[in-house]
Amino acid sequence: MLEKITVPLADRSYPIHLGSELLFKTGGELSHLQFPQRIAVISNPTVDRLYGRAVLDSLEKSGFLPLLFNAPDGEEYKSFETLQSIYDFLIENNFDRGCGIIALGGGVIGDMAGFAAATFLRGIPYVQIPTTLLAQVDSSVGGKTAINHPLGKNLIGAFYQPEMVLIDIAVLDTLEPREVSAGLAEVVKYGVISDYEFFCWLEENVQKLRERDGETLIYAVKRSCQIKAEIVELDEKEGSIRAYLNYGHTFGHAIENLSGYGQFKHGEAVSVGMIVACKVSAQYGYCTQQEVDRLTHLLQSLDLPTDPPEFSLDEYVISMQRDKKVKQGDLTLVLNRGIGDVSLQKVTDIKSIFSSIL
Ligand code: NAD
Ligand code: GLY
Repeated sequence: MLEKITVPLADRSYPIHLGSELLFKTGGELSHLQFPQRIAVISNPTVDRLYGRAVLDSLEKSGFLPLLFNAPDGEEYKSFETLQSIYDFLIENNFDRGCGIIALGGGVIGDMAGFAAATFLRGIPYVQIPTTLLAQVDSSVGGKTAINHPLGKNLIGAFYQPEMVLIDIAVLDTLEPREVSAGLAEVVKYGVISDYEFFCWLEENVQKLRERDGETLIYAVKRSCQIKAEIVELDEKEGSIRAYLNYGHTFGHAIENLSGYGQFKHGEAVSVGMIVACKVSAQYGYCTQQEVDRLTHLLQSLDLPTDPPEFSLDEYVISMQRDKKVKQGDLTLVLNRGIGDVSLQKVTDIKSIFSSIL
């Protein structure tokens, strides 16, 4: 069964196609899009070994001319150096404005290949084929592309929407359990920020999610993409409510930054960050301790961490002050109002807010 969701952005609207065994149909899907014939498929050795052949064969059968580039695997390679090697590959192989890019991989590849597409020759079309749960429910949708700077996550980037997102749920079979949990953290996020019923559904389906039951995963991915598409439609460039998607991320990014990229999975850091945000929300009286406990229980039952790693309060504060959401020294936090709703809260004294939590 093929599910279709649209990200409605006027002349830059695009479809998300979601189903099982879709990789084998990549060529046909791209033909419908009238995607450029010459394609750079940007991936990494792990994903290439599992799925590269299926994608390249399907493209070739449909008359495309794909060339594969493998970046090294890991968050620490979402860097200037790897980006430069992607540009080198494109230039050395005479890619021009009539060519396209496919991002085949998790969020690291998706963000970096997307940024290469946004900037190479001032922008060439690209398609996202996300292969981790986290990339399927979050990073492949909405057009945020970026690389990391040694001083902060995703500090160099662009908003640049793909032509299509092709989600094959079958590729989740080969993911490490830790990666499935990391993706589920972002799924839980959607429940907290916008859909109480979805949050309850997640609580009821923990076991099936852990077992990677196909139908359960399809619904979890579909609902997540729908919520993200609705928010991106209303605020593509994060002038207002798109910031809701960063629930748990300010603290999560600080964890990733302080512990060195790669130690904590992004979704794991977000899991801890959501608990911290929920505790801050309780401090403001926006939610109850019972709701903090409920969120903690759901995340823990999905094998996610909920306790901050041991860095000093000063280290956390300095790191959070580098957050992209800091303006003139004030930090804007996304805080939950109960479960299923959020709002933005400007915080002037970051240290005192976090001192009772850390
Ligand atoms: P990742 O891309 O590093 O993938 C995790 C691991 O899984 C890697 O080793 C990868 O090679 C492997 N892998 C990928 N697909 C696989 C498969 N099907 N089977 C087996 N192994 C597979 O990590 P991620 O969690 O997908 O993405 C994290 C990145 O996404 C971070 O850099 C984060 O900043 C970014 N992100 C971006 C957005 C956005 O809106 N653009 C949103 C959330 C996260
Ligand atoms: N992952 C946050 C966003 O896409 O805005």
